[in-house]
Amino acid sequence: MLNPRRTPLILTVATLPLLLVYSGRAGEKPMMKAVVAHEYGAPEMLKIEEVPRPVPNDDEALVRVIASGVNPADPLTLSGKYAREFGTHLPLVPGYEIAGIVEKTGASVAKLKVKEAVYGYPNFGGGWAEYVVVKEGEVAAKPKTLNFAEAAAVPMGALTAWQALVDVAKLQPGQTILIHGGTGGVGSFAVQIAKARGAHVIATASTANQDLLKQLGADIALDYTTTKFEDVARDVDAVLDPVGKETLARSYGVVKKGGIVMSLVARPDPIEIEKRGIRGAGISVHPDAEDLAEIAQLIDGGKIKPIVTQVLPLSEAIAAQRQAATHHTRGKVVLRIADEPKS
Ligand SMILES: NC(=O)c1ccc[n+]([C@@H]2O[C@H](COP(=O)([O-])OP(=O)(O)OC[C@H]3O[C@@H](n4cnc5c(N)ncnc54)[C@H](OP(=O)(O)O)[C@@H]3O)[C@@H](O)[C@H]2O)c1
Repeated sequence: MLNPRRTPLILTVATLPLLLVYSGRAGEKPMMKAVVAHEYGAPEMLKIEEVPRPVPNDDEALVRVIASGVNPADPLTLSGKYAREFGTHLPLVPGYEIAGIVEKTGASVAKLKVKEAVYGYPNFGGGWAEYVVVKEGEVAAKPKTLNFAEAAAVPMGALTAWQALVDVAKLQPGQTILIHGGTGGVGSFAVQIAKARGAHVIATASTANQDLLKQLGADIALDYTTTKFEDVARDVDAVLDPVGKETLARSYGVVKKGGIVMSLVARPDPIEIEKRGIRGAGISVHPDAEDLAEIAQLIDGGKIKPIVTQVLPLSEAIAAQRQAATHHTRGKVVLRIADEPKS
């Protein structure tokens, strides 16, 4: 998901020593620290390097990153398996969630202001760095009640949950939704958003996370290691599936006619959908400043909150990627890029 238009900035890293020898003008070009991969592969491909700061185009803003979230999409992008779908190019800087401060705006940027605190989802990553360029549609004002590390834990998970539950399922008060993986990056927001919309929530997680499911507001918390969800959930209006495979295959049967199965990791089976008279949707999250602004309102109104499990320094980027690849993260791991600014 690295923007090909932006990669040349990083590509110059390889030629930088040469340039410095030739010009002798080291330090003239603003540099920054970033987590960079020059090859696809395992988390060990990641290195912390000094690279040139990205320069925003007219329709972009440069954001000084204070904290950046960690997602299962990061190791997936690094693996290179989805380079074509994600539009990924090497070298790549991971990081799809950021919270930071606008440092500079391009000539045609209308809404974002220098020094404004923002949070959001850079579509092509790049957030695991001291600076990232964003479009106006990718960020919104940071929720006022969160610090930057907490705000960086929001964008990807909350946007995915919001776009599935609100935009696609159009979840209504009194409806019932089954949310698998209700304590993960997406699920922890899905449970809270569903409750905020007045839905009845059945949610699953492993034994260690049953208390958290309850804290998030689940009406029924199910331990998927001991209970078959289909023994409890029947005739639900919607299912949110971040797990896939057998979990998705068993989900069609618990949905009432006209209801919907939404998967984050697969395309629901058209045969099952047709046979049961239900609907299916493969969810594909996209950056959306208006959605982010609505989510910020819910956060500042005390309706939803991020669950931050761990805040790690940038030097722990490899450990963060390994954790993201487990698919058993409780809430969100966040990378701290800079100190929280004093307000
Ligand atoms: N399509 C899109 O636009 C989109 C957007 C965001 C994410 N995703 C994908 O969606 C998936 C979830 O993302 P995430 O950020 O929520 O991941 P995550 O933070 O790793 O959370 C995964 C969740 O799944 C639970 N889980 C694992 N195995 C399970 C099982 N067999 N049954 C029920 N729950 C199970 C975990 O609970 P325990 O820890 O208790 O086991 C945890 O709550 C990832 O594959 C990610 O790449 C897709």
